[in-house]
Amino acid sequence: MLTKRKILVGVSGGIAAYKAAEVISRLRKLHAQVHVVMTKSATEFITPLTLQSLSSNPVYVDLFDAPKRWNIEHIALAEHVDAVIIAPATANVLAKMAIGLADDFLSTVLLATRAPIFVAPAMNHAMYHHPATQTNLALLKDRGIHVIGPDTGFQACGTDGEGRMSEPVKIIESLAGFFAGSDCLKGKKALVTAGGTQEPLDPVRYLGNRSSGRMGYAIAQALQEAGAETILVSAPTDLPTPHGVKRISVQTAQEMYHVVLELFLEMDVVIKAAAVADYRPAYEAEQKIKKTGAGYTLELVPNPDILAELGRKKTSQVLIGFAAETENLLANAQDKLQKKNVNLLVANDITKPGAGFGSATNIVSFLFPDGRKIDLPQMSKLEVARHLVREIAKILGIETKE
Ligand code: CTP
Repeated sequence: MLTKRKILVGVSGGIAAYKAAEVISRLRKLHAQVHVVMTKSATEFITPLTLQSLSSNPVYVDLFDAPKRWNIEHIALAEHVDAVIIAPATANVLAKMAIGLADDFLSTVLLATRAPIFVAPAMNHAMYHHPATQTNLALLKDRGIHVIGPDTGFQACGTDGEGRMSEPVKIIESLAGFFAGSDCLKGKKALVTAGGTQEPLDPVRYLGNRSSGRMGYAIAQALQEAGAETILVSAPTDLPTPHGVKRISVQTAQEMYHVVLELFLEMDVVIKAAAVADYRPAYEAEQKIKKTGAGYTLELVPNPDILAELGRKKTSQVLIGFAAETENLLANAQDKLQKKNVNLLVANDITKPGAGFGSATNIVSFLFPDGRKIDLPQMSKLEVARHLVREIAKILGIETKE
């Protein structure tokens, strides 16, 4: 699973730093290409020379070292790797990741990369159980960062407790497991729409909606992680394009319609997570509309229903729709499932705290044409996306690891 994968191993300054040598050595034995970044304090525990010899690559410590290659190294590394594993991850590194601090080579790479990140926390049990560390870990998990361990046992401080770094074997298993599951959509082409369309009224104004695009972006990331060649057709958002995903930017429902319809027949999977405006202004004023002091009536005309059109045109594609509802969730969602001819409908009640637009988490149900229903508890949008990818693989008849 790890053959030829480019893995960045980040080593931070805890006593478990010496175990990074075994992590690197095991990765090499599994034919991964390993790059190493150490924090300054990690170099107090184990030398860069050791990790350089084991990885067969230069080890990065200082942002301002003489460049080892021609390009901006922390950015090049961040963009180039398939996964990052921080082992050990000290409380300090986790805190820096949580707030997005970039004050050394490792934290800068972590901020710049869009590759999946794994952390293997290692610290004294009191530090591990401190509310600050627990809050940071919860936040990182919400962002889709994979946390491995920690284990319970003898600690360097002489006590027993939770906070020992997981054994290198277990760390490698988690990484390999990720890539094993991650190949389930290899060879498949997937298209996701995301964000809220904007329907121009005049050069200054548009009709929009509250969609943040986060759910669709998380799905694009999960599809890409699963090995699918992924295209993201995105209405305007501030979100960064997930690593390895091709993004096509659109503004209006009609633009989205044309892009999606053109690509549809080449796709194996299409997921319509975008919040598409059902109506647009009948006319777009060439100049800014001036106030008159009187009331103003806006004439709207219907937009095409992209998903319904795909449902009519579909041949072998797996088609997934969303239903964002504020009332009668199940009845409305069942109705959309039938009318739009989808293989799976993701229903969410956007009025629930922790669900819907703008939220980092979501609470959804998957509805299937055969009447099955899966209710997922509240979880990060990336976790919802990973569940969705597993269901898509099942619909395609592909076996996945749960
Ligand atoms: N959808 C679409 N094109 C539209 C409207 C919606 O492709 N013009 C898609 C959405 O991307 C989503 C699904 O249809 O996957 C349901 O969208 P939603 O806004 O929940 O429902 P509507 O079909 O617009 O119905 P209503 O507004 O009456 O709830």
